[in-house]
Amino acid sequence: MILVLGRGYIGAAFATELKARGSDYKICSREVLDYTQFSLLVDLLKGKKFQAVINCAAFVTQPSVDGCEDYRSETLLVNLVFPSVLVNACQLTGTPLLHVSTGCLYNGDNNGAGFREIDTPHLSFNTKCGTYVGSKELAEHVVRRHELSWICRVRLPFDEFDHERNLLSKLQRYSTICDETQSLAHRGDFVKACLDMIAMQVPFGTYNCTSPGAVNYAELCGKLSRVLYKGKREFKFIHPDEFDKTMARTPKSRCVLSAEKLLSTGVKIRPVDEAIDHSLNNWTT
Ligand SMILES: NC(=O)c1ccc[n+]([C@@H]2O[C@H](COP(=O)([O-])OP(=O)(O)OC[C@H]3O[C@@H](n4cnc5c(N)ncnc54)[C@H](OP(=O)(O)O)[C@@H]3O)[C@@H](O)[C@H]2O)c1
Repeated sequence: MILVLGRGYIGAAFATELKARGSDYKICSREVLDYTQFSLLVDLLKGKKFQAVINCAAFVTQPSVDGCEDYRSETLLVNLVFPSVLVNACQLTGTPLLHVSTGCLYNGDNNGAGFREIDTPHLSFNTKCGTYVGSKELAEHVVRRHELSWICRVRLPFDEFDHERNLLSKLQRYSTICDETQSLAHRGDFVKACLDMIAMQVPFGTYNCTSPGAVNYAELCGKLSRVLYKGKREFKFIHPDEFDKTMARTPKSRCVLSAEKLLSTGVKIRPVDEAIDHSLNNWTT
């Protein structure tokens, strides 16, 4: 049985995919059981031999994680202290852990190759970053203390379902869009890849679980306009330097990640262009 913690945007997608696969799973929400309490968590993990626990709990503000600056203690508690509690509980019970992390740790495209998992993040509490990114980066170090752990980095999730967390929805709602190039992850493809990693018992470690490739926002908005608005929608862009000066509260990550390590395990994940075309052609509001 697989245990999913947190019924948010990503946690719900894990539940949907596990159900579709006919897998034995349990999704846990704080409403039903406060899994952030160590003793309750240990009892939960002791009560059943879980194949893996998937940590989808996090403090993520909307529309951007800049909002975490107004909730620093909550951000650190959920994104850093809780993973530490969870690691202790998993170590105590010998439970493998799949921790959902973020890919917003780099800047640039690494001369076209994309950043790999062995590359040192540019954004962390050791350099300059916001509380959300710093807490997520530091949590990766904490999770690595558990030998039975996979760290799966998702980035700018999207799919065909209109949602405040879906990048394709966000781009349609922003009044001004920063003209940047990013790696993204199709939400359903991300959770499929994570579940395949568990099923295939790929080596423990850190993985960029992004849809291979990268996307330029100006080109993506052109596609959005053509497919969803018959070419009639215009988008307003702002240069990244101007955006950083006038609209950002914390340093931004604009990066291309390499998904080579994930692909080398035999886990499959669609290229980003294919996943975007599919999402736009099946757009559901
Ligand atoms: N969405 C994105 O754009 C994005 C991008 C990159 C990485 N990620 C990562 O993906 C993972 C899942 O994020 P998500 O997008 O699914 O976020 P989300 O929709 O906000 O879900 C996070 C869940 O965390 C749980 N939680 C536990 N303690 C909490 C607290 N004190 N306050 C608020 N929520 C709390 C809640 O689940 P219950 O109430 O059910 O317990 C909540 O639904 C996180 O690790 C995040 O860093 C997300």
